[in-house]
Order: sequence, then C-alpha cells, then structure tokens
Amino acid sequence: MTGLYPATRLRRTRATAWSRALHRETVLTPRDLIWPLFVTEGSGVEEPIGSLPGVSRWSVDLIVARAKEAMALGIPVVALFPNTQPERRSDDGKEALNPDNLMCRAIKAIKQACGDDLGVLTDVALDPYTSHGQDGLIDAGGYVVNDATVEVLVGQSLNQARAGADVIAPSDMMDGRIGAIREALEGEDFVNVQIMSYAAKYASAFYGPFRDAVGSRGLLKGDKKTYQMDPANAEEALREVELDLAEGADSVMVKPGLPYLDIVRRVKDAFEVPVFAYQVSGEYAMIEAAAAAGAGDRDALVLETLLAFKRAGCSGVLTYHAAHAARLLGG
Ligand code: PBG
Repeated sequence: MTGLYPATRLRRTRATAWSRALHRETVLTPRDLIWPLFVTEGSGVEEPIGSLPGVSRWSVDLIVARAKEAMALGIPVVALFPNTQPERRSDDGKEALNPDNLMCRAIKAIKQACGDDLGVLTDVALDPYTSHGQDGLIDAGGYVVNDATVEVLVGQSLNQARAGADVIAPSDMMDGRIGAIREALEGEDFVNVQIMSYAAKYASAFYGPFRDAVGSRGLLKGDKKTYQMDPANAEEALREVELDLAEGADSVMVKPGLPYLDIVRRVKDAFEVPVFAYQVSGEYAMIEAAAAAGAGDRDALVLETLLAFKRAGCSGVLTYHAAHAARLLGG
C-alpha cells in the first residue's frame, strides 16, 4: 500500500446493520439446537438442580410439556437423561434393560404426544443406573470392562428403540459399541433408528453439575480416565471418529464443547459428516455464573457461544440454553 488510504477497507461492509446481515457467514436458528432434559419419578414434579441454575428435573408428565414447548419453539430434538431412584441402581446397572424404566416411559409419553414432529435422542451408558456411577461394568479392581459392558449397552439400546427412541446416543466410550449396536438395531428391523455417537468424549472437569442432575456424583469413585479421552489428544479423536463412522454411526459428537472447538473443526474437515457438540453442564454453569457476576450479558453470551459452534462446523449443539436461545432467536 502506497497511497494515503487503505486499498481494502474491511470495515466498509460492517458499517450498517443491513450490510452486516448481508455479509454474515454463519446463522444460528432454533433448528440447530438439541435440548437435554432430565427425567425424574412422580407426577407434577419439578426438582431444580442447585449446580445448574435454571435447569430442573421433570416427572414424565412435565417432560411431555417440555417436549411440546421444544416443538413450539422449533427445536427439532430433545435428549433425555434419567435420574434413576437409588434403590433401582445396582452394580450391574440392570435397570437400564427394564422396558418400563423411567427413560422408556418418558420416550413413550413424548412420542405419543409429539409423534414425528419431534425427535427423541436417548443416552446410552450405564452411569444413571449403576451403584458405583461408572458408565460400564466394573471388575474386582474397579476397572471398567469393555466387552461385557458393550453387551449391556446393546440391550439398553434395543430397550430404548423398542420404546420409540429416534436417535441412540452412546456416551460411554467403550470400544466397538457402535458396530454392536448398529448390528442389533438392524437385526430387529430398526433400520431408521439413528446413532449419534459421542465419538470424541473427553475425561473432563466440566461434567460436575450433570452428575448432580442424574444423581451419580456422590456415587462415583475415582474418575473415567480409562475410557474417556485425554484432553491433551486431538489425533486420537480423529481415530475415534473414523472407527465410529466405519461401524455405522450416522453422526458424531464432540464433548465438551467450547474448549474443544479445534476438535470439531478438525473432524469436520477430515470427514465431512454431520458433527454435533455438547455444550456441557459445567459450560452452562460458567455462563450463568459469569452473567450473575456481571461479567457479561447473559443473552449475548448464550448466543455468541452457540454461534461459535456453528462457525466451527457443527450441524447442531446440545445445550441447556436451548429453549432460552430459541426464544431469543424468535422460535
Ligand atoms: C455419562 C454422561 C456425562 C454427560 C453426558 N453423559 C457425564 C460423564 O461422562 O460423567 C455430561 C453432560 C454434561 O456435563 O452436561 N454417560
């Protein structure tokens, strides 16, 4: 540049609202959101979760009301997590296989009320059902054993599919579970039941409030580092995704969200498949705490973080802010 003015003024297209709208590269809509919901026993029950301000567990009847709310807001799918009664938790997590468990009752009630106008995504892992809080079966030394766990996860997936689940979402990080679940679903003719694999799920410090919500925090001894990924690793995430796709996953998830957007982008660039991210409970709590402390405007923080997921390459985001964000977006 030799003249008295810049040859290119990138500020020119930013000068007015209409021009910013015209040049916007990424859009966030309610259709990009997946709303995680916690289910609890009883009827007419709402239990606020202390470490997740603004989020509650709902009994099945009120979960249906939340599902209808999601539908009205243009949110395409809800994700369900059960708070299993303590007396129904066991070492082997066999409540996960009970066709009348809380999860199955919630799935049926939502599908009956909403039909195909709303998708139901269900979590596959044993932590809401085990008395030790691990996602799988443990041996005498407390090690989570892989292949025996996969067998139970297959049974859990079929149990959910029979109840009407649209998307099976295994969050357990066992090796080989996607292939085993896919084969079992095909075997029972659930050819259009999707699998959204938690493919790159990290052993993260951001899951605390979720464990309160499903009642596993107090039960969990130790950590989940022998199956969830090391936060230091990125190449390994690509291997996880590659295997899950080869085994029959329809879409893959990266979790947590915001601290792992580099993984989202690498996965998207490498595989060009639908990628989702989970803005997890600790991230939600962080935004709420920042807003409460006056560090930022809550609505602006919510929309900016969700937009960042889209920009990084996500097809959608699981977020506890889904209903609020959908309202802000005019859903
Ligand atoms: C466990 C599971 C976890 C979350 C979803 N499924 C926690 C964990 O791995 O311990 C976390 C979600 C969140 O923090 O919002 N199967």
